[in-house]
Amino acid sequence: MSKVDVLLGLQWGDEGKGKIVDVLTPKYDIIARFQGGPNAGHTLEFDGIKHVLHTIPSGIFRKGTLNIVGNGVVIDPVIFQKEIENLAQFNLPIKETLLISNKAHLILPTHRLLDAASEQAKGNSKIGSTLKGIGPTYMDKTGRNGLRVGDIFTANFQEKYESLVEKHKGMLDHYEGFEYNVEELEAAFFEGIELLKSLTTIDSEHYINKAMKEGKTILAEGAQGTLLDIDFGSYPFVTSSNTITAGTCTGLGVAPTKIGDVIGIFKAYCTRVGSGPFPTELHDEVGENIRKAGGEFGATTGRPRRCGWIDLPALKYGIMINGASELSMMKGDVLDHFEEIKVCTHYIIDGKKIDYLPFDITDIEIEPVYETIKGWNTDTTKLTSFDDAPKALKDYVSYLEKHLEVPITTVSVGPDRSQTLNNKK
Ligand code: GDP
Ligand code: IMO
Ligand code: MG
Repeated sequence: MSKVDVLLGLQWGDEGKGKIVDVLTPKYDIIARFQGGPNAGHTLEFDGIKHVLHTIPSGIFRKGTLNIVGNGVVIDPVIFQKEIENLAQFNLPIKETLLISNKAHLILPTHRLLDAASEQAKGNSKIGSTLKGIGPTYMDKTGRNGLRVGDIFTANFQEKYESLVEKHKGMLDHYEGFEYNVEELEAAFFEGIELLKSLTTIDSEHYINKAMKEGKTILAEGAQGTLLDIDFGSYPFVTSSNTITAGTCTGLGVAPTKIGDVIGIFKAYCTRVGSGPFPTELHDEVGENIRKAGGEFGATTGRPRRCGWIDLPALKYGIMINGASELSMMKGDVLDHFEEIKVCTHYIIDGKKIDYLPFDITDIEIEPVYETIKGWNTDTTKLTSFDDAPKALKDYVSYLEKHLEVPITTVSVGPDRSQTLNNKK
């Protein structure tokens, strides 16, 4: 009997999950996404080609690995079709290696419209949603109105679709000045539904539990990050799913006793895209330099990512909530040319110094307290072994391990598969 290992982001997303899942895939028989939808943009780089995946798990390029889109994921048939079409040139046996849960919910064109209408109505307090319809789709799931992949095979799917769209139109009409045209979006939606029908759909909870019984190795791939979790993130500036380890249980049908290693991944600094609090955000030249060096622009929306120093109170919170058993530090190379690196160890709130994430970080003044660490000021992108890393980088990793109390087993020094250093003792 095997267990399911989990890889997930400890910050506000875009930590480099796609890259590390791709690197780890040879160790696994199955890679499974458990939540989120096409709001995710997971980047993989190898053989000089950059790939961005939104719904499809990041194990798809490795021969012999199965990829499951779990019940906790929301699928937009239009975006899904585009993803599949983009992969066509690589001649992957998608029908055999990509399996889709019958219980995954569908994003309708009207969910996207509702997302846009809601954001427009919020004005300055908008979430900065990716506008992929994520919030409204999960609302229909919990509101018990949603449509699932398995429904597309039923005789009355069209009826169910129309009845939900009518409901949505009623809601859209409440947004003053929001103009929309559902009909012009429907052809692409139904084309995507036909494509979904031609792919392999499964009862993924049975499939995964059987695979565990057979001793198959399974990695659950998170989307977004812990600080965007619907329960534990910087609410209301979050996404609409459980991005944490617990999400694996509900999003794949895996019992809590069947969770194995939990790999938490974080950047050597911190970024956030969209609105919401970000205690260590830099509004100066240093932030701009990180953005440039790290190519910090959204993989899904192209928006510039907000940049800042690493935030230990927030990271410790993520490690606690997820039960992270090991860590991967990403984008170490982005700090290659800094004389000094800062680490936020505490917050000062109302004159009080604390080292944990409080209830609310949205409506209060937080002053980050920093420790300054010596930079390595050396190009690390060509390193092939962590043993050869500059001392200051090793010291930075040891410093973080001491504070986070979890081993950093991987250090990433570039976007390519090969730029990954093993630090397992
Ligand atoms: P994900 O959403 O967590 O999969 O992350 P994204 O793909 O949205 O964003 C991570 C970005 O950083 C992508 O452009 C990756 O190619 C890139 N990347 C990943 N690891 C590294 C690294 O160690 N160094 C550098 N310079 N880039 C990296
Ligand atoms: P990956 O998997 C970074 C952010 C959006 C917005 C908030 C809510 O690539 O790490 P939503 O569209 O979910 O309603 O948006 O969450 N967001 C992400 N930020 N990476 C992501 O995914 C994200 N998915 C959503 O910018 O602030
Ligand atoms: Mg991303």
